[in-house]
Amino acid sequence: MKHLLATDGLDADSALAVLDTADELKRTLMGREIRKLPTLRGRTVITLFYENSTRTRVSFEIAGKWMSADVINVSAASSSVNKGESLRDTALTLAAAGADCVIVRHPASGAAQRLAGWLAEPGTAIVNAGDGTHEHPTQALLDAATLRERLGSLKDRRVAIVGDVLHSRVARSNIHLLTTLGAEVVLVAPPTLLPSGVDSLPVTVSHDLDAELPASDAVMMLRVQAERMHGGFFPSAREYSIAYGLSEKRLKLLPEHAVVLHPGPMLRGMEIASAVADAPSSAITEQVRNGVHVRMAVLYHLLAGEGDES
Ligand code: CP
Repeated sequence: MKHLLATDGLDADSALAVLDTADELKRTLMGREIRKLPTLRGRTVITLFYENSTRTRVSFEIAGKWMSADVINVSAASSSVNKGESLRDTALTLAAAGADCVIVRHPASGAAQRLAGWLAEPGTAIVNAGDGTHEHPTQALLDAATLRERLGSLKDRRVAIVGDVLHSRVARSNIHLLTTLGAEVVLVAPPTLLPSGVDSLPVTVSHDLDAELPASDAVMMLRVQAERMHGGFFPSAREYSIAYGLSEKRLKLLPEHAVVLHPGPMLRGMEIASAVADAPSSAITEQVRNGVHVRMAVLYHLLAGEGDES
């Protein structure tokens, strides 16, 4: 891999190579007192975040450090972006300073792709850590890693993605990756929170969560992204929670083996009941844990692997 910009177009072999590396790294490091590998010694990784983050930024930092890379965090709020510096000039500055890899989160869809174009000459690897409502590929990879752990192969498994699909880059990346890996995806959302091009996606659509749960192997609850709803949203928060929230009563409709996922941050009591988030079928903490190993694997394939043109 040269960059990781999206799961749309990521072939099954490349995705499985990352997931297998993540599994191997997890097995290697599990139970070790000192979790440090020399793999990326001498490499410089920079996280460049224009939006808030806890999980993604921290797990990339840990992933880089566990592989002995030098990791530097740049947040837009405390950088020269605040003085008006453009994304392009910021990216060129980081590359000139010696970045081998820039991990970028930005509110504009397509920002990571633009960075990859601007930094083609120095050859800096770009990882999309979430661009607008477009994609969040490492989230989908860590979700797939978690589902593989709990369910085995994803082939012919049915995954319900529930809630604010319209604003969710997590949903988009998961739709592409899960279907590439052989799973079936059903989107469950109110009509107002579905994207206009939903008919062209490889999914089925439902507005009835109770009807979808009994046949689902996994349910992925999405955060309601109020910060992207400038005109307010319909249905109301209360109506949404009643129709699309994963309550304790609804949890019982799932098969016993089914897995509950949420990318975080969670709005407990809104899209997911607190007791459901903490139930044995919930893999939310494992998602975070797997995020470190998956991001280590991504950095490995970008910076230490053989390298190809994908
Ligand atoms: N899932 C996710 O991207 O979380 P953060 O916004 O905390 O990084």
